[in-house]
Amino acid sequence: MKRPRVFVSRVIPAAGLVKVQAACETEVWPERLPPPYDVLREKVRGVDGLLCLLTDRIDGELMDAAGPQLRVISQIAVGYDNIDLAAARQRGIPVGHTPGVLTEATADLAFTLLLAGARRIVEGVQYIRDGKWDTWEPETLLGADLSGATLGIIGLGRIGQAMAQRAGGFNLRIIACDPVLSDEEIRGRGAEPVELEDLLRQSDFVSVHTPLTPETRHLINADALAAMKPTAVLVNSARGPIVDLVALEAALRQGQIAHAALDVTDPEPIAADHPILSLPNVTIVPHIGSASVRTRDQMAGIAANNLLAGLRGEPLPHAVPAD
Ligand code: DGY
Repeated sequence: MKRPRVFVSRVIPAAGLVKVQAACETEVWPERLPPPYDVLREKVRGVDGLLCLLTDRIDGELMDAAGPQLRVISQIAVGYDNIDLAAARQRGIPVGHTPGVLTEATADLAFTLLLAGARRIVEGVQYIRDGKWDTWEPETLLGADLSGATLGIIGLGRIGQAMAQRAGGFNLRIIACDPVLSDEEIRGRGAEPVELEDLLRQSDFVSVHTPLTPETRHLINADALAAMKPTAVLVNSARGPIVDLVALEAALRQGQIAHAALDVTDPEPIAADHPILSLPNVTIVPHIGSASVRTRDQMAGIAANNLLAGLRGEPLPHAVPAD
């Protein structure tokens, strides 16, 4: 029997790739950087399945370039804002993603960022590298206490909830807002429900865990930043465009907030000479929320299972939720 043809848009962990290669005629994009859109459009011509990454733009034009035989798109990520879901639905192409397995790793990273911002870890490392550590000083590199402080969680889905669990262990008061959850559900997930405006005003730490949608793009803008405490630490491990980076840079320069700790930026990747990187009160890491060995293996396994199920014409084990 003819094996299905698939394109995999980057080398992924063997835990998933080997399964795909065993069942399909597989072409893997071998380079470290993603295929440019035009190249991807050529590569998908005639494929039955596409395994893609959050760095690939997957729109209707690309689906049409692939052809009517394309029967599954499997993304190795929980987020799927790079995929035009309406276009996929119109064409009857199921889309898979990798929820659940990266919850703990991503919450670990978000909490790491919170601690790094609170205790000025990157500044401390730089202080030593700059040869400034001459003695123990009573008032140098003072940061914020977690115990008794308030953490505001924007978006109390799986990862937001895992963040709340970690915060409980550090004796933080937890408040949250989430447009799809009732107050009862927010309480059930370990947080006190509040409106976004109150969350911004009350929080010592604000952590963003909402998906990127037209409604959440620049949710953290100049007004939101102005509402925050001058001592506040902002953490974003969700998607870069939720925070207006230009407004954030201005807010940090003007002391409207104390620190920003980001795993995601807009644009992404951020250029090494971006002016925000010259500020001392910024901690930025390169979108590594799910970057643990076990988590990435599990993500690759789920992405492969989604792809293979779609190729067999079966429901995807982890299809993106319907609107
Ligand atoms: C996701 O899965 O959406 C993360 O951003 C990368 O793991």
